[in-house]
Amino acid sequence: MRRLNVSKKTALKVVKELDAFPKVPESYKETTASGGGLSILTFMLIIILVVSEIQYYTATELKFDYEVDTNLTRKVKINIDMTVAMKCQHMGADVLDQTGQDVFSYGKLKEEPAYFQLSPRQQEYLDFTQQVNEYLTQEYHAIQELLWRSDKPTLVGGMPPRDDMPSGKPDACRIHGTLEVSKVAGNFHVTAGKSVPVIPRGHAHIALMIEGTDYNFSHRIDHFSFGDPVPGVVYPLDGTLLVTDNNYHIFQYFIQVVPTEVRTYANNVDTYQFAVTERNRTINHREGSHGSPGIFVKYDLSSLLIRVREEHKPYWQFLVRMCGIIGGVFSVSGMLQSLTNFIADILCCRLKIGKYRRTGASFEETVRGMPAMSLPSELPAAPLLNSAEERDAQEGFPLLNSNSQ
Ligand SMILES: *[C@@H]1O[C@H](CO)[C@@H](O)[C@H](O)[C@H]1NC(C)=O
Ligand SMILES: *[C@@H]1O[C@H](CO)[C@@H](O)[C@H](O)[C@H]1NC(C)=O
Ligand SMILES: *[C@@H]1O[C@H](CO)[C@@H](O)[C@H](O)[C@H]1NC(C)=O
Repeated sequence: MRRLNVSKKTALKVVKELDAFPKVPESYKETTASGGGLSILTFMLIIILVVSEIQYYTATELKFDYEVDTNLTRKVKINIDMTVAMKCQHMGADVLDQTGQDVFSYGKLKEEPAYFQLSPRQQEYLDFTQQVNEYLTQEYHAIQELLWRSDKPTLVGGMPPRDDMPSGKPDACRIHGTLEVSKVAGNFHVTAGKSVPVIPRGHAHIALMIEGTDYNFSHRIDHFSFGDPVPGVVYPLDGTLLVTDNNYHIFQYFIQVVPTEVRTYANNVDTYQFAVTERNRTINHREGSHGSPGIFVKYDLSSLLIRVREEHKPYWQFLVRMCGIIGGVFSVSGMLQSLTNFIADILCCRLKIGKYRRTGASFEETVRGMPAMSLPSELPAAPLLNSAEERDAQEGFPLLNSNSQ
């Protein structure tokens, strides 16, 4: 029992000696106003840094990875909503791709009569999408990143329905719906005449009863996307409005599609991003501009897959940086204070010495010239006298006390 006590005591002693924080008695500590001011500044700096660090670490970041697309799905959805300034019975829309499959196996798009001119509210929406797309082309990805993180789409729901009834017959045709196409390069197009399958391969558009003046491939694209549409994302072709005054005009879009997996806290979708190049020209066989008028969308799928992940920065890093900030600011401010004290010391002493130097006399002369120490020069060995009594005693005068007389 006793031995245990002893070893306990020595252990305590050893631990005491290891104390890296020796306690200084309060009476040895000195507080100054400058030190207090510096402490307040230090604390404020620490608070500012800590708040900004917290902001930095609560924000998430998007990580992009690239890899070969190994998904074996063989179908890709194409979502289309566009309006062409031509009557429905005069035109046909379909898809032709490298598999040479029957065009009707991909599903059929709905065609319904519409007005090319938009109602004011619809025009507003179109202007808005155009603005967003313009912004996106200039500031790449900025909005998409934001939208991928939010589950509440801010740009809701496509073109609003018409709220007025224009006079006259519908002059345009709205084509909309979803096609499930093979995951290979293909060509979606709208041309004059309904398409009929041609054995053994492909198809033809029969345009017998259509006059040249019926041709008008001016069009507006309200929505064009691949895969499941992500809520709130504006795709590059949305809001496209191209109007031509020429009946025989060809519009071509070349699209590179990139499969994208989005895994954010708000969204979990497999979608497709794409880049578009647009071209248009007027068909004029005499001038060497050949082809058939219409709208042709050629798409090709990339073999690379983009993975988008939303990640928190690691919390242990946050802790490490916190310690670094607090300790660092403290020790730097301590160093600063010692430095300023040191400089202040040097400055004040220099200044005092400088004052004596400025009179031009040496230190010794200055001392001798001082009135309290004025001594007869023939008595250099005489000790310094401090008071009148002592001086009187030296010169042989008796010490007289005024009171004793
Ligand atoms: C392939 O993609 C489809 C949709 O794009 C998805 O439903 C399916 O789970 C994916 N398959 C694999 C193995 O990732
Ligand atoms: C055709 O393309 C050119 C740019 O190459 C563009 O300036 C023009 O507006 C387009 N024409 C039509 C009718 O869209
Ligand atoms: C096609 O329709 C648009 C909109 O109605 C019109 O502005 C344009 O002049 C028409 N083009 C032709 C060649 O008729």
